[in-house]
Amino acid sequence: MRIVMIGTGYVGLVSGACFADFGHEVVCVDKDQSKIDALLNGEIPIFEPGLDELVAKNVAAGRLSFTLDLAEALPGTDAVFIAVGTPSRRGDGHADLSYVYAAAREMAPLLPDGVVVVDKSTVPVGTGDEVERIIREEAPELSFSVASNPEFLREGAAIDDFKRPDRVVIGVNDAHAESVLEEIYRPLTRNESPLVSMSRRGAELTKYAANAFLATKIGFINEIADLCEKVGADVRDVSKGIGLDSRIGNRFLMPGPGYGGSCFPKDTLALLKTGQDYESPLRIVESVVASNDQRKRGMGRKVINALGGGDLHGKTVAVLGLTFKANTDDMRDSPAISVVQALQDAGIEVKAYDPEGMEQAKKVLSNVTYCEGPYEAMDGADALVIVTEWDTFRALDLDRVKGLLKDLIFVDLRNLYSRSDVEGTGFKYIGVGR
Ligand code: UGA
Repeated sequence: MRIVMIGTGYVGLVSGACFADFGHEVVCVDKDQSKIDALLNGEIPIFEPGLDELVAKNVAAGRLSFTLDLAEALPGTDAVFIAVGTPSRRGDGHADLSYVYAAAREMAPLLPDGVVVVDKSTVPVGTGDEVERIIREEAPELSFSVASNPEFLREGAAIDDFKRPDRVVIGVNDAHAESVLEEIYRPLTRNESPLVSMSRRGAELTKYAANAFLATKIGFINEIADLCEKVGADVRDVSKGIGLDSRIGNRFLMPGPGYGGSCFPKDTLALLKTGQDYESPLRIVESVVASNDQRKRGMGRKVINALGGGDLHGKTVAVLGLTFKANTDDMRDSPAISVVQALQDAGIEVKAYDPEGMEQAKKVLSNVTYCEGPYEAMDGADALVIVTEWDTFRALDLDRVKGLLKDLIFVDLRNLYSRSDVEGTGFKYIGVGR
């Protein structure tokens, strides 16, 4: 199959490279000259394990190419995937669809007959209808289909998620679009990954419902973690105790500093907006959003309380991990931002280290001393707080840490350590929900 991918952001680049790896011929198009130049030079503009090799391999095999020119890419294509950004619109949280609609308008006069335009960007219910309307307006004679094919990739595990998905959701309103998408995903169905076919609106909503449900699981276990602290239970026991029930499932039940990233915060807000537009209140999701917002800031207070509260001017805290989760350089809506700002508001100096996120962090966090490694950050600090679960923080040399910290306060917002190990070395240990 010949595929054009519009947008070489996270979803576009990963999907484009994986489709090429399936054996399809893929052309990725982007308006950003510097991005295309970088990709043509073999540089990958995002941090995603394994992506550079996958891109290089498929470029070398002649199956994957990059261009700025839509008119060069579109002739003869079977499917065009729209994978442009849908950020939260300022003010109302609605997904900003201007890039999606602009892409539809621009491609319309260049599309070949029989093409399937597939929305891969996360878009609210009804966006496919509008894309169809725009293309029909711009190219009244064209025969085409518009489909929805939401993405369920996790940053840091995107290639594996793409190649071994729990399911592939396709939203189609006609048989031709269904057969083209079936053909594109045939390599996966051979591996027995189920292809779930439904209406276009169903697929659009499935994406938001999935992210909102996962966010709800996290919000739920975080609140149970708070209760565990009050009643003297360990949330890890509760997580396991409920997660083994197959109706609940054990994943996404890890308490922490709150969810962040480019998806859950944005998508939960956009779903709420859709609920309002259709006068169908989503009270549960509203509570999850509010609970998560409070939690992020609350994690800063947790560290402040560990330091004993009061006037903390002149104190220093070592923050380990800044990205919203491990294995990414993404700082968007990272809980670390709220934690660092809460500490700074209390007059506390922050020394920080993150294996991949410091360049991005510098754009959003000022007055932080960025360090070369975790031990440099701890040197002379009054407390240590682990915010992101990077592997390099899982086996710190506790004796060395003891020699570096002024006060032996160890706050572990990801529950990476066993209380007895840390307390055994002489620290005061504060985890989450324990
Ligand atoms: C999420 C979904 O997991 C993907 O399925 C989806 O495709 C993607 O959004 C998207 O819409 O594009 P992602 O944002 O990359 O993926 O990250 P997750 O691994 O889901 O983590 C999100 C946040 O939840 C992180 O801050 C993480 O630390 C937090 N989390 C996750 C927890 O606090 N506890 C958990 O048990 C799991």
